[in-house]
Amino acid sequence: MKLPLLLLLLLISQVLGSQTIIEVLSKEERFSTLLKHLEELKLVSFVNDLKSGTVFAPDNDAFEKYEADISNSTILYHFIKKGIRTDEFYNGQLKETLLEGGPDDGGQRIKVTKSNTIFINEAKIISSDIQVNNETYIQAIDRVLEPPASIGASIKMRNKVMYDLMASTEISNLLEKKRPFTVFLSTTETPFENYNSVESNYLKSKYGRDDLAVYFNYTIIDKVIYMDEFKSGKTTFKSLSGDSLVITSNKEKMTVNDIPITQSDIIASNGVIHEIEHPIKHDAIHFDTRKYMYGYNATQMVEWFDQYDLGNYLDQQELNYTFLVPPCDSINASTISKAWLSYHIVNGSWPQANLKDDMLLTTQFKSHDLGGKQQKLPVSVETDHLYSSSIQFDHARVIGDEVNIHDDIIYQITEPLSLPGDILGKLVLDLDLSTFIATLYVSEVGDEIKETNGLTLFVPTNEAFQKLGLVAQYLVHPTAKTELQTVLRYHAIANSLLYHDDMRDSVHELVTLANSTLRISQNESGSIFVGRPEGNEGVVTHTDTLVSNGVVHKISQVQIPNQVRITNSNLLVGIESNTMIQILEKANLKDLIDRDNIVVLAPSDKAFSKIDLDDLFENQDQLERLAKLHIIPREWQDRWIEESSNLRDKSEYPTLLSDDDKVTIRENEKGELSIEVKNGPESDRAHVTGLGRVSAGGGVIAIDSVLIPIKRGFFGLPWMWSVIVTLIIVIITGGVLSIIGFFGYKIYNRRRLGYRPIF
Ligand SMILES: *[C@@H]1O[C@H](CO)[C@@H](O)[C@H](O)[C@H]1NC(C)=O
Ligand SMILES: *[C@@H]1O[C@H](CO)[C@@H](O)[C@H](O)[C@H]1NC(C)=O
Ligand SMILES: *[C@@H]1O[C@H](CO)[C@@H](O)[C@H](O)[C@H]1NC(C)=O
Ligand SMILES: *[C@@H]1O[C@H](CO)[C@@H](O)[C@H](O)[C@H]1NC(C)=O
Ligand SMILES: *[C@@H]1O[C@H](CO)[C@@H](O)[C@H](O)[C@H]1NC(C)=O
Ligand SMILES: *[C@@H]1O[C@H](CO)[C@@H](O)[C@H](O)[C@H]1NC(C)=O
Ligand SMILES: *[C@@H]1O[C@H](CO)[C@@H](O)[C@H](O)[C@H]1NC(C)=O
Ligand SMILES: *[C@@H]1O[C@H](CO)[C@@H](O)[C@H](O)[C@H]1NC(C)=O
Ligand SMILES: *[C@@H]1O[C@H](CO)[C@@H](O)[C@H](O)[C@H]1NC(C)=O
Repeated sequence: MKLPLLLLLLLISQVLGSQTIIEVLSKEERFSTLLKHLEELKLVSFVNDLKSGTVFAPDNDAFEKYEADISNSTILYHFIKKGIRTDEFYNGQLKETLLEGGPDDGGQRIKVTKSNTIFINEAKIISSDIQVNNETYIQAIDRVLEPPASIGASIKMRNKVMYDLMASTEISNLLEKKRPFTVFLSTTETPFENYNSVESNYLKSKYGRDDLAVYFNYTIIDKVIYMDEFKSGKTTFKSLSGDSLVITSNKEKMTVNDIPITQSDIIASNGVIHEIEHPIKHDAIHFDTRKYMYGYNATQMVEWFDQYDLGNYLDQQELNYTFLVPPCDSINASTISKAWLSYHIVNGSWPQANLKDDMLLTTQFKSHDLGGKQQKLPVSVETDHLYSSSIQFDHARVIGDEVNIHDDIIYQITEPLSLPGDILGKLVLDLDLSTFIATLYVSEVGDEIKETNGLTLFVPTNEAFQKLGLVAQYLVHPTAKTELQTVLRYHAIANSLLYHDDMRDSVHELVTLANSTLRISQNESGSIFVGRPEGNEGVVTHTDTLVSNGVVHKISQVQIPNQVRITNSNLLVGIESNTMIQILEKANLKDLIDRDNIVVLAPSDKAFSKIDLDDLFENQDQLERLAKLHIIPREWQDRWIEESSNLRDKSEYPTLLSDDDKVTIRENEKGELSIEVKNGPESDRAHVTGLGRVSAGGGVIAIDSVLIPIKRGFFGLPWMWSVIVTLIIVIITGGVLSIIGFFGYKIYNRRRLGYRPIF
């Protein structure tokens, strides 16, 4: 039925003397598939009605290769209204086909690629210019031309990664729409070449979708601009983002925003794609700290900031902050609090170059315990021999370089920061402060110190307590509790945070918890001194230990405030030298020892066990002599062996007993002191077991045996000497008397015998 119709038509055309496209195609067996499709789709008469045109005629092999269905559209896409010979084709030429619904409401385009051979889209022309009449040509091709896909589909085929990014935004849907679009598509996989890693990481993340859409919108113009039809020159277009794109075209090249177009006019059903050498840079994406935090993988941190009302730190621009970002998986969820989070935000912009060792930064953690002040964060900078430095915020090391965004800085750190802890918990860790901790417990001042807001505390080291000697022993004695409390309070200042930097430059006189003034000063070489305003200062040996309610510094000397008067009697009580106290009382010397500049030698109770005390207490004279031998009426010596003395390893001191009853203080190679009675028996040497200076200027020297006064004979000399001297005197006197007697006898004898002197 069909074939006779075709024959009939052929016959008619023959009769009319002009050929039709169908006739010409029919002549060649290789177009039989095409003819068959034309018939099946009822396009024969439509084709025969064409007065002119170009037919791109796929041969039978081409249809063989073609797998998709052949529709009306497919066939119409092979027809052009005007007849064109191959010599009229030029490279890059676009032509409208009879397939309607093209981007600019004309027909869909085909694209000519011309070098030695001519390609129509992907299909090669295998026989050219088969003439139907002088206005109609058939160009045989080796493939069926596929009507163009949408822009979205085209991009998906050309650059999957880019397409997926578009698909993460709404852009891929947009590019399926009919409105014609011109898209500038980079040949690079992603559009992020112009953005740093943080920015591109952000744009790739779900948080960056809107900005990414803005970016893609910037690469799209909502009209179709075929470069083939573009007049040479420079034209500015408005992109979907509202910003301008400048397209230039001249003989040499075509560019958009000065980026070379490497492949123009990639046709699509709803527009055209131009491939460009590298991605367009879009300055209109506004990056801020929040976006950078997202790009820095600190999304969890940002979430918490928002949750705890700290999000404004990320969004504001007026003030500068430094953000410290620990790895999320290292954070124990139970530690998260507003305080903890705000401790990770540091006031000001702190690039690595500005950080110095031992520096304290101010965080945004405003602490009630600090009296509303902001808690500090210690920095340490270690520069190794390679001049690379490692920076730590407290215990957390910095990873990589800082990121800078609008004068805000972001650091990635190895671990979460911990807020400075409870003061007692912190001090306990330092073994060098164990005595101080012990005194805090004994005195029950610990809680008071712990509850003081904005505390500056000077903590004497163990060595400092050791230097106090018997005074320390007294202070921990139950009777000295109030004194100890006052002494400890004297080391604490409330509501006044003094960090090392604050103490470095000016002199402070501050009222302590003991209500008396402590003076903080410094010398030229930067050492800081703490003490009573009148002097006797300790040196600050270690500064800036941060605790929840303030700051702690170590000092080398315990400071005793003026209101604490420690007497010799106190020290005797402190060392529990009860027998000595009893003896002093009995000798009525108890008041005397607490006067100015009296040093008491205090034998321990154990030392007295070797003495017959009953005998002693019965003999008042003996008792007084013994007591007085143990009192040196002079001021306290820092060194009891005088350097200037010619007796290099010993010094002598007169006692209250008499100027002759001296004691000798010796020092052995180990620096240990011993005391003996001058000219007393060797065996009576007492070892010094402790020293303690008192407020009145004297002090107590604790010893391990009792000094026994030397028994005095005549002339106030020791017993033996007085005997010897007496004997000598007797002998000399005797000798003189005998000589006088001898001569006297002689003179008497002469007189008796009648001799007369001859004058
Ligand atoms: C194909 O298109 C022609 C011309 O527009 C029309 O006459 C014909 O009916 C169409 N065939 C089909 C199957 O739609
Ligand atoms: C084709 O031929 C006709 C008649 O022979 C003539 O009128 C017409 O101008 C020609 N067209 C072209 C493009 O040569
Ligand atoms: C991108 O452009 C489309 C079309 O104008 C618009 O609907 C969409 O909101 C734009 N997207 C953004 C993020 O501006
Ligand atoms: C963030 O995470 C991505 C993907 O896990 C990774 O490629 C990138 O290096 C990370 N960035 C930073 C700053 O850690
Ligand atoms: C923020 O930092 C910049 C550069 O360091 C500085 O110029 C500016 O004054 C700082 N702003 C404030 C509020 O400190
Ligand atoms: C988190 O901290 C809490 C309380 O500080 C502790 O009990 C818990 O064991 C910690 N969890 C982990 C996983 O470290
Ligand atoms: C915070 O830093 C700014 C300078 O960046 C400074 O002017 C301001 O005094 C600082 N605030 C505190 C509380 O340290
Ligand atoms: C210090 O003085 C205040 C007020 O004058 C008083 O309340 C406080 O008890 C005093 N503290 C000591 C330790 O004396
Ligand atoms: C400052 O004091 C320290 C510690 O007492 C001392 O070593 C240093 O010599 C003093 N410097 C000056 C300039 O006096």
